[in-house]
Amino acid sequence: MSSLWYKDAVIYQIHIKSYRDSNRDGYGDIPGLIEKLDYIESLGVNCLWLLPFYPSPLRDDGYDIAEYEAIHPQYGALADFQRLLEEAHARGIRIITELVINHTSDQHPWFQRARLAPKDSAERAFYVWSDDPTRYGGARIIFTDTEKSNWAWDPVAGQFYWHRFFSHQPDLNFDNPAVVEAVKDVMRFWFRMGVDGMRLDAIPYLVERDGTNCENLPATHAVLKELRRTLDEEFDGRIFLAEANQWPSDVIPYFGDSDECHMAFHFPLMPRMYMALRQEDRSPIVEILAQTPPLPNDCQWAIFLRNHDELTLEMVTDLERDYMYREYARDPRMRINIGIRRRLAPLLDNGRRQIELMNALLMTMPGTPIIYYGDEIGMGDNIYLGDRNGVRTPMQWTPGWNAGFSEGDQQALYYPLIVDPPYGYQAINVASEERTQTSLLRWMRRIIKVRKQYHAFGRGRFEMLLPENRRVLTYLRRHDDQVILCVNNLSRFVQPVEINLQRWKGWMPLELIGNVRFPVIGDQPYFLSLGPHTFYWFLLVAPQPDGAGS
Ligand code: NOJ
Repeated sequence: MSSLWYKDAVIYQIHIKSYRDSNRDGYGDIPGLIEKLDYIESLGVNCLWLLPFYPSPLRDDGYDIAEYEAIHPQYGALADFQRLLEEAHARGIRIITELVINHTSDQHPWFQRARLAPKDSAERAFYVWSDDPTRYGGARIIFTDTEKSNWAWDPVAGQFYWHRFFSHQPDLNFDNPAVVEAVKDVMRFWFRMGVDGMRLDAIPYLVERDGTNCENLPATHAVLKELRRTLDEEFDGRIFLAEANQWPSDVIPYFGDSDECHMAFHFPLMPRMYMALRQEDRSPIVEILAQTPPLPNDCQWAIFLRNHDELTLEMVTDLERDYMYREYARDPRMRINIGIRRRLAPLLDNGRRQIELMNALLMTMPGTPIIYYGDEIGMGDNIYLGDRNGVRTPMQWTPGWNAGFSEGDQQALYYPLIVDPPYGYQAINVASEERTQTSLLRWMRRIIKVRKQYHAFGRGRFEMLLPENRRVLTYLRRHDDQVILCVNNLSRFVQPVEINLQRWKGWMPLELIGNVRFPVIGDQPYFLSLGPHTFYWFLLVAPQPDGAGS
């Protein structure tokens, strides 16, 4: 299979805990996920991204790892994970897991050992310590709702330790070569088992330096290059996906010279898709893509509408942030840290047209799309749960007992199900959506299928077109001979648009969802009228010698 598989992938993000409980304990588990692989295959996605499933006190939903080379017993055992890999691979589905290396849980034996060991010992040096809690004062606080400082006092060690996230997540010390070696071993462990890629969590913060903001530092990039060297030397066809919530110009170095990460999330694009939709104006998207530098050839953006965290507003201006809060999070309970803790459907007020348009953008903008579990059926959220847990509730499979998520006691579920209308599991669930041709689920299957038929979406060059009407977002995706024209009406009203397609005079636009032939491109700008929130994907078909294309 192609080594550039990640460019053609459609990724589905899942928390094992949230997907399907096979043993009635109220927590999803690996055997439960295996049961649902047929569903995942039928959705058309060909890659899973699994949130952390390692032993952990679960105070940051598993991003607080207490043991790197094992499975949290609630989710199963290593043998279950091996079976998952086999069963997924047999269906052509790859698996990306999490490499969380910026920090561990304070329960990790490395930290327990470090705090008991003498100052200046090799064990202590696994983490970042100081007697002075004002050091690295230029580093911002990320979890602004819970943390006041990036230092926490450890009475056992008699020193402060550094943490960029929760105070129970001490940062590893990447100035210590033994840490880098230990991390390589973790990486080897999972790649040897057969995982196809790893998402590198929170990598801008690996290394600290006085007088800087401690983000994106050259020494951090040096560590990543070293990990990539190990990957390339020892494994084939595996990838790194960078989680660097930064401006495009700061993310680009994470691709290096094709010697760091293969993929990186495009964080600034995501909120601008919501802004463009609500403002009914393409400018936010046009501007951010204009500011996005080109990538090395074998690199790729990862794009998304929602994920397991808050819809982050770190990569927007203050004015834009106010706008987003006003439009999408009027209730203060919908906000957390610097972002909005809601799912896709509630953000869009359950507007089917809007949900479809946003997914159409997701499938066609430059990058590999990631679908967050449950968003394919239009699941809702629960803003009364703490932290970001409101977007992590059990998957809704059926209108029956525990939404088909678990046969256990209702009260045993790790979080309550979504029950209130219009998102309650009685109405929004896989089984119900299988029964209607017009359901969101069936629609999602169709567009994923079309997306996968054309390499231009995953691999093609992107060219923005700027017809006069700013409510319409128009662009080309081109790969080899394939030319695809995407036209999106961001407005809630019908819109006309005239597109200059002179380069393709005599070609025929073939609409790809219905395979519908449109009038051949002539001398005039190509005129289209678009219904509210409508989008078109056209393959431009060259005139055939026998006239078939016209
Ligand atoms: C990023 C993860 O996406 C988030 O869920 C987590 O809380 C932080 N990293 C800290 O690990």
